[in-house]
Amino acid sequence: YEAQPPAQPSAQVLVASNRGPVSYTLGTDGSLDAKRGGGGLVSGLSAIDDKLWVCAALGDGDREAVRRGVGEPGVRMLDIDADVHADAYNGIANSVLWFVHHMLYQTPLEPVFDAEFRRQWASYEAYNRAFAEALAEEAGQGAAVLVQDYHLALVPGMLRELRPDLRIGHFSHTPWAPVDYFRLLPDDIAEQLLHGILGADRAAFLTRRWADAFIGCCTQILGGTGRTRIGVHGLGADADFLRRRAHEADVDERMAALREQTGPGRRTIVRVDRTELSKNIVRGLFAYRALLDERPEWRERVVHVAFAYPSRQDLAVYRDYTAEVRRVADEINAVYGTEGWMPVVLHVKDDFARSLAAYRLADVALVNPIRDGMNLVAKEIPVVSDHGCALVLSREAGAYEELGSDAVVVNPYDVSATAAALHEALTMAEDERAARTERLAAAAVALPPQQWFLDQLDALRRD
Ligand code: G6P
Repeated sequence: YEAQPPAQPSAQVLVASNRGPVSYTLGTDGSLDAKRGGGGLVSGLSAIDDKLWVCAALGDGDREAVRRGVGEPGVRMLDIDADVHADAYNGIANSVLWFVHHMLYQTPLEPVFDAEFRRQWASYEAYNRAFAEALAEEAGQGAAVLVQDYHLALVPGMLRELRPDLRIGHFSHTPWAPVDYFRLLPDDIAEQLLHGILGADRAAFLTRRWADAFIGCCTQILGGTGRTRIGVHGLGADADFLRRRAHEADVDERMAALREQTGPGRRTIVRVDRTELSKNIVRGLFAYRALLDERPEWRERVVHVAFAYPSRQDLAVYRDYTAEVRRVADEINAVYGTEGWMPVVLHVKDDFARSLAAYRLADVALVNPIRDGMNLVAKEIPVVSDHGCALVLSREAGAYEELGSDAVVVNPYDVSATAAALHEALTMAEDERAARTERLAAAAVALPPQQWFLDQLDALRRD
């Protein structure tokens, strides 16, 4: 990648994603409460004047907002039939595509591609078509359209047919499966997905590894990537926002509460994730249990702070996983806990201020996903850490490419090695830990969200 002059701010930019920048909750009194989200796209788009974000209405509140004509300027929510959306989002995107790219299937029962799968696939096509049609309708001549993620893999191809004048980009926020695993999918579906993304002028990924896997699939299944250019843009942490937000009063309050909960003088091993199978929370707990078991000197001297935001709870496999996380945490507390020491502090609730409090307090950060597109927690913790934090990092996270040299690196399946890594991180000399944290933070903010977004836009208009 070479730096180029910034994109013309006057040209129209459209973004398409399943989850939009705002969501509505319907109160019992019929009121609609709007909640605005953050993230790389929100901050990237803030630099653009002429913009439109096309997203799906995700719940009753969103649907009601569309019906009442309530909305934000620059956002168009698509009220796609709720059953079609459920099939596309829960059935195909989260149960099939997410599982393929994160290599999460467990034999012997999965996957099964049968008539039910074909029915859901038709919904996935319809859902993608609704986005393509809305974008075709909204886009001005020659506008740039940035399509996001595995939910919308067919959109670039569909949109290209409707509007050949547009500059179309696709960005994958997940890993991409290696070809031997991607081939689990029925042949026609695998081809359709690849052709869908190749409808874009540019297909971009978070790391070279995922880009190479995509190229491998295209080469071996289709014979090549055609005219589509492939890009790599490793999203970084938003340092300015995080450092400011992490020192607001509510975070200070939560830090005091958390200190009280962990107990004075104790070390903390912190993790913050969605309740997501690929995050590998249970093996993290097993590793912590092994640490307490094999190195009893840590008992009463360390606390594992595990925060997990409930995610995709419509899916039974996610509900079961969340229950398993709770069960293992409770078991560790029952077996090892003492009068004044709770070995695991687990919270299953979305509380950003509390997460930032944990980031600041952490002595060790545990980020051990089975596979992960990037993992921003690994980047955010070193940026806001108060006194330096040792990072135990899975080599299967995208962030490993940028942070691996200053982390304690683990194979996420290797529970014994993860326990040993936790010990190494806990015993790291203070000056080394501080020096590593500084280098980790510098690497983590190399490509802040706004730049990440503008780079993609520049490249799309240039290529
Ligand atoms: C991943 C995906 C995102 C998605 C996020 C949360 O990071 O790449 O597109 O928004 O998970 O998942 P959810 O299903 O809640 O949108």
